[in-house]
Amino acid sequence: MILTRSSLGLWDKVARRVFKSVYRREDDEVVRKSIVETLTESDVALYIHIPFCTGTCWFCPYARFPIQRSQLDEVISKYVVNLRREIRLYGELLRDLSLNVIDVHVGGGTPSLVPGRYWREIIQELTSAFDARPEVAIEANPEDLLDESRVYDLVDAGVTEFSVGFQSFHDDLLARLGRRHSASDSIKALDNLRSAGARYVNIDLMYMIPGETLEEWIEDLSKATTLKPDEITCYPTLVLENSIGYKLIKQAKIPEQPDMKTFKKMMYAAEDFLTARGYIGQEIYGYTRTRDWKYVTVNYEMEGPLLGFGAGAMSFTGGYEYQNFCSVEEYYEYISKGKLPVAFSRRVTVEERAIRYATCRLFICRSLSKRHFKDKFGREFNELIGRTGFKWFLSMLRVSGDITEDEERISLTRKGLFTAHKIAWAFVLNVPCRMVEECLKRPTPENITIP
Ligand SMILES: C[S@@+](CC[C@H](N)C(=O)[O-])C[C@H]1O[C@@H](n2cnc3c(N)ncnc32)[C@H](O)[C@@H]1O
Ligand code: SF4
Repeated sequence: MILTRSSLGLWDKVARRVFKSVYRREDDEVVRKSIVETLTESDVALYIHIPFCTGTCWFCPYARFPIQRSQLDEVISKYVVNLRREIRLYGELLRDLSLNVIDVHVGGGTPSLVPGRYWREIIQELTSAFDARPEVAIEANPEDLLDESRVYDLVDAGVTEFSVGFQSFHDDLLARLGRRHSASDSIKALDNLRSAGARYVNIDLMYMIPGETLEEWIEDLSKATTLKPDEITCYPTLVLENSIGYKLIKQAKIPEQPDMKTFKKMMYAAEDFLTARGYIGQEIYGYTRTRDWKYVTVNYEMEGPLLGFGAGAMSFTGGYEYQNFCSVEEYYEYISKGKLPVAFSRRVTVEERAIRYATCRLFICRSLSKRHFKDKFGREFNELIGRTGFKWFLSMLRVSGDITEDEERISLTRKGLFTAHKIAWAFVLNVPCRMVEECLKRPTPENITIP
């Protein structure tokens, strides 16, 4: 079978209904005004998108463009010049808000293609725009971390946290994902990061790879724990109908994915195997060795405030959500005119934000504290959520034994963990993946409706 949107049944329908939204192109002045008006919290996370890769992985659903290694220097240097200008535009716009930057996360595409000297410039720009010297976390591909001096340079430039895309320790499975590194490259990359003094390392693993067996998945989990990274993240492989991998499966050039029953077994295998070896399930995908810190990505996207920079970056102030142009040319064009490179945007009501927050806390982070909810929204959970259809959704999950609730907290049960995976999968396929799909169309549409 192939696990696409249509194989998620009810959850697909729920996600389509709950997260249906319309985005529009707006004038630069309107965008700027909306950002300033809706950015009411001082703690903000920053996201930078590096939309280049040196190839295309067969199931990749992200906003990225393949480039040749020989073009790298020219492409990256031009991109960084524009990125710095964009950061400066935000610095000028938000100067009076005294924002406190709590996280800088760089995703892609492949941020590890950017050498240390450019990170120094980007960090310098962030420092002057936001009056902060934040630690920077980047997503990295193993093949970019094989040269020891390059890795030292990244760490020396101020990149202290790394999330490395290992995906699997089986070279044949890596090949079936269209990856451009071997399992031994990944191990060498981790050694180099440790010698260079990287403060925190997460490794990404993928399961539900076409043709993968449960035994192979458990071997991957076992090898990952032997390496003792600070964090292990386990993603089920999402399949978009427009991906190369989907076509290869349809043409029977690679095997189908494991079935739903095996998905369930693989997911619980990760949960049981990693927790038995001392890892803590901080959220449904990520497991850490200590409680103190985790390589956070999804929370800020869902809850805000998050300011995104770079072609294809998403931002969410808390009351306003917008997407930068994915097309690098259009992104450059707007920046050269001194405009924020926003392709489309929309307002988000407090009720919708509350549902996003609750969805993220409960179905991604495993538990929702009503006290934290009140601190964030200034209103009781039952009062705000009680006015929305989400209340009925929670009642249904309580009856089915997917969640439990007391005075202070709503938590996922062990049964609910599998349901949460299906909900998260339906959300990702219907919202961010659909946004990227629309945004990659040329010319970029003026309005889009999600899903
Ligand atoms: C934004 S990607 C970029 C990181 C980096 N370019 C890489 O591929 O290693 C972050 C992670 O998403 C995961 N990923 C990639 N394709 C996926 C898919 N089709 N379904 C689920 N997760 C996927 C991989 O584990 C990858 O490390
Ligand atoms: S999975 Fe990562 S390396 Fe592969 S194409 Fe996507 S962003 Fe690039």
